[in-house]
This record gives sequence, C-alpha cells and structure tokens, in this order.
Amino acid sequence: MQHKLANGIIVIFGASGDLTARKLIPAIFHLYQHKSLTKNNIVLGVSRSAFNDEQFRQKMCEALLTEYPDDQKSINKFLNQIYYQSIDVYTDEGYTLLNKRLKALLKSHKLDNNLLFYLSTPPSLYYQIPSHLAKLGLNDETDGYKRIIIEKPFGIDEKSACALNAHLLQHYKESQLFRIDHYLGKETVQNLLVFRFANSIFEPLWNAAHIDNVQIYANESIGLGSRAGYYDQNGAIRDMIQNHLLQLLGIVAMEAPAKMDAYSIRNETLKVFQSIRRFRTAEDIKQNVVIAQYQEGCVQGVIKGSYRDEQAVAKDSTTETYAAIRFFIDNWRWHNVPFYVRTGKRLNQRVSEVVINFKPTPHPFFSQVQKITKFKNQLVIRIQPDEGIKLSFAAKEPGSGFKTHEVDMGFYYSDFAQKALPTAYERLILDALQGDNTLFARNDAVEACWNIIDPIIQYIHKHGKSILNFYPSGSFGPVESDKMLAELDHIWRNPSSNFKQNSKA
Ligand code: BG6
Repeated sequence: MQHKLANGIIVIFGASGDLTARKLIPAIFHLYQHKSLTKNNIVLGVSRSAFNDEQFRQKMCEALLTEYPDDQKSINKFLNQIYYQSIDVYTDEGYTLLNKRLKALLKSHKLDNNLLFYLSTPPSLYYQIPSHLAKLGLNDETDGYKRIIIEKPFGIDEKSACALNAHLLQHYKESQLFRIDHYLGKETVQNLLVFRFANSIFEPLWNAAHIDNVQIYANESIGLGSRAGYYDQNGAIRDMIQNHLLQLLGIVAMEAPAKMDAYSIRNETLKVFQSIRRFRTAEDIKQNVVIAQYQEGCVQGVIKGSYRDEQAVAKDSTTETYAAIRFFIDNWRWHNVPFYVRTGKRLNQRVSEVVINFKPTPHPFFSQVQKITKFKNQLVIRIQPDEGIKLSFAAKEPGSGFKTHEVDMGFYYSDFAQKALPTAYERLILDALQGDNTLFARNDAVEACWNIIDPIIQYIHKHGKSILNFYPSGSFGPVESDKMLAELDHIWRNPSSNFKQNSKA
C-alpha cells in the first residue's frame, strides 16, 4: 500500500561513489517520475569531494542520462531537487557544517525535520557517522523522523556485527535502523510471500513430506570488476550467502507469520536462521561446503582471464569466487530436506532462482519419463532475469501407449505488468521513507546469519588452500559441486537462458 509521504531530506553519505550514481540517484529519480516523491522530498549528497551543487548535479545528470536517455526534460527538473555538501566526515567541524546546511535547506524548502541518512560509505564509517549525527541531536525524532539506511557488509563476522549493532543501538532505536539487503527489495522475492501465503494450494505441500530438496542460487556472469580491494578480503560466502541468499532461504522456509508486518515476518525468518543446523566439525564443512575460484575460460563468446590475473588480486589468492553449501533446517517442517545454496562469479550466465524439487511418485508407473528426470514436479521461481514462476509436470504424449513428457505452466512478469519492474533500491528507499522495515534485516537476524557462516569462514581461512577447487570461466561451476549433490542423488538445475519461451529452460 502506498501512503502519502512526509516531506524531508534524503541525505546520501558517499555521494561521489559508484553506488550513488549507478543505483541510488536513478532509483530516487524513478520515484519522482512515478510521483511517489514530490518536490518536498529533496536530496543532499555528502562526501569529501569538493563539488558544488552544480557540479554534483552535472555528475548525476550524466549517470541518469545513461540509464534514461529519453528523459532529459524530467531529469533537468529532478536535478533542481538535488544539493551537495562537501565535508570531512572524520571531524566535528564536518558535521557542524552539514547540520547548518540541513537547517538552511529545511527552512528554504519549508520542510518538516524529517531526515533519512543513507550510508553508502566504507563500512569503517558506520561507527563514526551515526555517533556524530547523534551528538548533534540528529537522532531525535521529536519533531520528525531520523532514519539510517546502512549498506552491506554489516560486519565481517558475528562478533563485529554484534559490536556494530550495539554501537548503533546506543544512539538509535531499532525502528530507526534500516540494514539494507537489496535482494529483499526485488519484486520477485516479495512475491514469494504472496505466492506462499495468498494461495492455499502450495502450502500443504510445502514441507518435508512432499519436498525432496530446495535449491537457491544467484549465478553471475560478471567477474570482479574493480572491486578487488573489497572482494578479495571477503569472497563469495560473505559477499552473497551470509546476506542475500540466507535471507531468501528465510522467506522460502519460514512459517506463516502471525501478521504481514515487519515484526511478525522478521520473527519467522529469524526462527529459520536459528534452526539451520550449524557446522560443528571440519568433517561437516568438508561434506557440505564446496568452494572454488574461476580460471580462464569463455563467457558468452568472450575469453576471460583467471581470478588470480585480475588487477590487485594476489597471484596465490585463495579467495573463493564460487560457493555451494548444503544446509539442513532442524525443525519439523524441513526435517532432512537439503537446502542447496550456491553463488558464483564468471559463470555461464546471470540467473537467480529458487527451485523446489517435489518428491517423485512412490511408484514409477510411467517409467519412460521417470528415467528422464526423477524430479519432474519442479517449481522454479525465477528471481532474475525474465522474472516468473514455472511449474513442470508430466503429461501424456498423444497417441498409443503412455509416452510422457515434461510440460510447464508458467507465470511471467512480462505478461503481467506493462511497465518495467521497480528496482530493489526504489522499493527499499520508499519503504525506508515510509518507516516500513519489513524488507530490511533486523539486528538479531544479521547476527544469526553470521553465526551460521562463521565456522565455515574460519575453516576456509585455515585450510582454504587445501579445499579450494577451480572452474573455467563460463561454466556452471566446479564438478565438485555436482558431486556434492550426487551424493544424495540430486542434481543442480542448470537453466538455459530463455526462461519464458523454452519450456525446458
Ligand atoms: C552485491 C554483491 O551485494 O550483489 C555483488 O556485493 C553482486 O558482488 C551483487 O554482484 C548481485 O546483485 P544482483 O542484484 O545483480 O543480483
């Protein structure tokens, strides 16, 4: 539901950075275009770079035109709502300057004292900025909301995440904190809640009695880009699994919430995280975790080099660019159902899906189809691209005998919506402006997810060299990952690129 928005200022720290130009400003522009935001919601970019308002607008204009080349007129109008303040975020003077500018903008635009701070900065500043803001009373909600959006990574392990939470909670209430996980803002991920809880036909089957295994993955065809500094220190498990994929798993596996509100939904996903079986021994990890790194190979017709040849990556780096983990959830609903989670860079294509493989029939009457694929009742929720949902089942081929084929029933967003889906950032910024933190990670959930991942990371740090596998760029990943699934007679769904047209895709 869309409420009328309160007026106020969106303050973006790290405004000269890549995320602001690529994602945040385009998302805010789109919200203006669709009239979710008005001229009473203005933006103040903040960073160290010495721009004035005009120079910053020019920079944002270039970024917007790349994405919306036909919208010059509305972009120009929108740019008048954007301001810029250069400050040194490490000094008190910097924040005094910022506070003065905020007061001036609130006054000149006749706005209420509503401030949304977006921290798109290096994580080291997640300590400094909130405490400096609080010192100036910019956490006080007496005369307007004061909210903070915090980008990932939220800590590097459970201990650091707990420390950061404790620090933030000294100055802000949990309701003022919005830990962003952009996967939760994807339209298809939210639709999972509707799919599961607005339909009665799937929920009775949504358990260990009927589901054999679940696969949740985000495969990427891109490599490292210019992010070696961050990525080589973190790797695929911290970058994608601890946050995006575990959050997705939480929604797939959760019980129905008492209400469709932030508190109830986040309570249920937290219970899933608490019930995920922890890896306690080296053997547990060796059996259930596969990590790998990309080597030279051909991605969509173009030869790409190996990870170790990327700029600023050490020649002997053991950082994983691929990870596949088999989780079990120790509760009644999911007893002994493997949840396979995987992610990787430089794979053959960009595709994120949730795949539910239902149990085969107890008795294979129609042996021809049974041989082709055991899990012919497969539900695929395509998160991106070609967003949609597809259910496959067996049908009889016309003619004599019982020759069966797999066929599909599908729902595709491209049929459903005339307009493009809103981006995750658009949705999440709007939610934060409305004070709705349902699609943001709560402190206890972030800590629980680190608690699941920490033993794996620690093991990798100690033994990374001995357990690291390799895969050619452009492939589906390392064979060791297929072998892990084969142990339980499972097989990865490796989709081809056209989800909608090709029934086998
Ligand atoms: C980010 C990761 O959080 O998500 C990146 O840091 C990754 O490494 C990106 O490429 C993937 O997001 P999306 O929306 O393109 O699937």
